[in-house]
Amino acid sequence: MPHTLVILGASGDLTSRKLIPALYSLHKKGQLPKETRVVGVSRTPFTSEAWRDQLAATTEKFAGQDFDTAAWQAFAERITYHPGDIDQPTSFEQLVQVLDDLEHGASATRVYYLSTSPSLYATAVANLGAAGLADESKGIRRIVIEKPFGTDLKSAKELNRAVHQVFAEQQVYRIDHYLGKETVQNLLVLRFANSIFEPLWNRRYIDHVQITVAEEVDVGRRAGYYDHSGVLRDMFQNHLLQLMMITAMEAPARYSADFIRDEKVKVLRAVKPLTGGDFARDTVRGQYAGYLEAEGVPAGSQTATFAALKLRIDNWRWQGVPFYLRSGKAMSCRTSQIVIQYREPPIMMFGDGPRSHLDANKLVIQIQPAEGIQLHLQTKVPDAGMKLRSTDLDFRFAREFTGTMPDSYQRLLLDAMNGDASLFARHDEVEVAWSIIDPILAAWQSPAAPPLETYPVGDWGPACSDEWMRSQGREWFDVCPVLH
Ligand code: BG6
Repeated sequence: MPHTLVILGASGDLTSRKLIPALYSLHKKGQLPKETRVVGVSRTPFTSEAWRDQLAATTEKFAGQDFDTAAWQAFAERITYHPGDIDQPTSFEQLVQVLDDLEHGASATRVYYLSTSPSLYATAVANLGAAGLADESKGIRRIVIEKPFGTDLKSAKELNRAVHQVFAEQQVYRIDHYLGKETVQNLLVLRFANSIFEPLWNRRYIDHVQITVAEEVDVGRRAGYYDHSGVLRDMFQNHLLQLMMITAMEAPARYSADFIRDEKVKVLRAVKPLTGGDFARDTVRGQYAGYLEAEGVPAGSQTATFAALKLRIDNWRWQGVPFYLRSGKAMSCRTSQIVIQYREPPIMMFGDGPRSHLDANKLVIQIQPAEGIQLHLQTKVPDAGMKLRSTDLDFRFAREFTGTMPDSYQRLLLDAMNGDASLFARHDEVEVAWSIIDPILAAWQSPAAPPLETYPVGDWGPACSDEWMRSQGREWFDVCPVLH
């Protein structure tokens, strides 16, 4: 069956930086379904040739070593451009004709990719519907919706309603690019294709879990967007909660979209809501020094560029095991990692006194950039009596496999074209995620907020974040990944 991928908002950054390089790489590897066409739609009055030329230059830049002129030229033949305005129903009427001509009236799977400004999502969906473009009588029709999906629970519900007026839920693919990362999928494999972890994956053996997504970059030129969003909307509602769901979920009975998403959403539903004094006690916020001077940031902005949350998942597996989620910009290094901190042995018979619980076993899942898994364990130092030292079993993707890690958009675009929604968020998942984040956003605007502490660029967040962990007898795993 031929596939047509229609990118709405084609002249935007995401298209040139991520979507086209991902499609090009899939083409080069021979993974793109045969007869796949790419149609770009946006207001800029390009010709198809002009758009292809522009994309050749950006793809060369973003696909790096993967770029090969002959392969690009073959891929570029699949690309066409159609100028159109998302606001204008007539543009969609013209699009019907453009697509019918391209597909020669034959049946084809169409995937509409919303890469426009989020404020246009509802309009785009309504106009697609009005032009009959969601109608499946001549082939499958799907829609991919980029993040952010709403800015709070209310707007997410409104958007879900608007989308469902035109598309049935099984036609809808809400992207969270973290789910497209190989290492995030490998977390499913680690947990559910190995039997040795499951017995140890619960409150009996685990003291707490840390999920860190640290970024070295600052807000750069995105301050206009970022200042309204802040770290909770930008990173927690989606990426951090996705990582938490995959870490904490029960084993789905099969690898299929709804089985997986049913288990994920149960995790979110079990999160104990924060109330009253919890906001000051269980959340930390910070802003990096110099944020206020970034272009586009209003004077005195209180937007948090760093946050740490302590969430409790009230179910049989996790009761009493805090999940610490942390993310920020302008931090020490780029690292996304999940640390499963095990409990200490009940009795330590080696050495001459109690050892620090910080030496207890840790399973460190490195999501990026040093993709791998390390198991920290105590080992006897040779020729030194019964002296122990923390050592690790170290698995690295780069050592074990050849080739570079594919960008997450490759997997996600392919899945959307092939109709596998396992790695996409369902409507209820997005809404429950907002229902966890909304009260924190509200509290941070009120006297219940923790102080907004400034942290130096290149640090692990504000000092109060370390103190907060120490006051709970715990410590962040602040280790920058070693890349080799
Ligand atoms: C995006 C956020 O969703 O994820 C950005 O809007 C952030 O602010 C980015 O930088 C991080 O993604 P990655 O894949 O580089 O960790």
